[in-house]
Amino acid sequence: MTELNGPVVALVPAAGRGVRLGEDIPKAFVDLDGETMLERAVDGLLESEVVDRVVVVVPADMVHALEERLPDGVEVVVGGRERTDSVRAGLDSAADARYVLVHDAARSLTPLVLIRRVVAELRNGSDAVVPVLPVADTIKSVDEGGIVTGTPDRAGLRAVQTPQGFAADILRQAYAAADESATDDAGLVERIGHQVRTVTGEPHAFKITTQLDLLLARALLDARRKEGKQCESV
Ligand code: CTP
Ligand code: MG
Repeated sequence: MTELNGPVVALVPAAGRGVRLGEDIPKAFVDLDGETMLERAVDGLLESEVVDRVVVVVPADMVHALEERLPDGVEVVVGGRERTDSVRAGLDSAADARYVLVHDAARSLTPLVLIRRVVAELRNGSDAVVPVLPVADTIKSVDEGGIVTGTPDRAGLRAVQTPQGFAADILRQAYAAADESATDDAGLVERIGHQVRTVTGEPHAFKITTQLDLLLARALLDARRKEGKQCESV
């Protein structure tokens, strides 16, 4: 029987600059109601109680800004130019992992239930797990001149979130074979011919990419704080 126990190490890529968000500091260090996006993502992983260790991957010039800001035991490593380089750097610091979660710092409000769902599926024997949601928009492929080349059937499409979960040896194999970058880790696992299983995602695990996403995240936290106050006053 396959051994399904063993430590879960979560890698948190947070080394991007956040060009599309357009703030004057790297995206993961932007404040969300008193805590950075990165801190919120890390807190969620630790609070889920299904993660044994967290490794965050940050830009070299932000390492000092993290001193004493992250909970004890959280390891900090320096990332690279592409997201793939950053995850690879994190993976090098996860030799002890039986399972690896890769979770974008930019999905700062990810519900604990989603982290638990992904880990449960790994412990159930799946080697590669991604949370997905149906797509709301019709998606078209286009050529370089902006001309539509096709309309894939929306019913067969899904938008992919994180945390993505993997048996550590499978993710290591995928990264060893990777000769170019990918926008998600499961994409590299698919390339080595491995099956990737989907679980149901969560709307609140959306990625903060643009100012509109940031506005939504802040509004959600504001609503949460007001609800909390209401509960205290009854
Ligand atoms: N990331 C990383 N290293 C990189 C690029 C991205 O660790 N070289 C991380 C980001 O910090 C983020 C996650 O990967 O948490 C998802 O990437 P994305 O949302 O694209 O963030 P950025 O690359 O920072 O944003 P942009 O593409 O708008 O510059
Ligand atoms: Mg990016």
